[in-house]
Amino acid sequence: NKEERYKIGFFDSGIGGLTVLHKALEMMPLEDYIYYADTENQPYGIKTKAEVRELVFKAMDFIVSKNVKAIVVACNTATSVAIEDLRKKYDIPIIGMEPAVKPAVRYTDIENKKVLVTATKLTLKEEKLHNLISALDSESIVDLLELQELVQFAERLDFDETRITKYLENQFKEIDLKDYQTLVLGCTHFIFFKDMIQKLVTKEISIIDGNEGTIRHLQNILRTKKSLNQGSGKVEFYNSGVIAKEGKDLERYQILFRRLEEIEKLSL
Ligand code: SIN
Repeated sequence: NKEERYKIGFFDSGIGGLTVLHKALEMMPLEDYIYYADTENQPYGIKTKAEVRELVFKAMDFIVSKNVKAIVVACNTATSVAIEDLRKKYDIPIIGMEPAVKPAVRYTDIENKKVLVTATKLTLKEEKLHNLISALDSESIVDLLELQELVQFAERLDFDETRITKYLENQFKEIDLKDYQTLVLGCTHFIFFKDMIQKLVTKEISIIDGNEGTIRHLQNILRTKKSLNQGSGKVEFYNSGVIAKEGKDLERYQILFRRLEEIEKLSL
């Protein structure tokens, strides 16, 4: 029934997509949302492409069954392995995440500096990212760095600065920071650590993500379909298909929204 299609679905392997939902609530407060975290099966970034595809289709069937008017695949890994096929299967708009490589290249003084794109193991292996980069990277100005463990830290709600900085220092040990002007967060989970990454790379390097661009894109699609502003900012949370209960489950989401607000305040 078309009349009931007023909510927007958000999907992620876990909590990374909350960073995108947070942006949506800020930019589109007059919508209602469904947030689906595949908590039973995260992290996706260390699985095979076939495994992730199967999980993504299962989750998307569930979200579509809730009669949503559009879905944001708020997960770079899932987007990398399945977005084209998802668009073929479902007849509603499906918006994916794209690492913000284009704006990063535009922003960078490419005569002298480079762009560093960070992502999960699987995203880095996928053709989609390599195609995106080779379309832009005529001067070899984009390098890649895997930060998979940040996903696991985030899912454990582990934001211990000492532990995470140690992990980051290790991942960055081959990177010569003075070569770079811009760092792209190519995984929605990484945003939870933006303050710590910024500290490590110093203020000389600008950190960008694709969240705002994604929500702007969603907004444009809904505007064209004349289906904007149909709710009041309510969110229903599902953990692998089971509705999140009052109490502990929902508290987890509150903690994470607070963490995002903290990070936003710091970057002002
Ligand atoms: C993961 O589950 O490994 C991360 C997924 C993503 O946000 O790219």
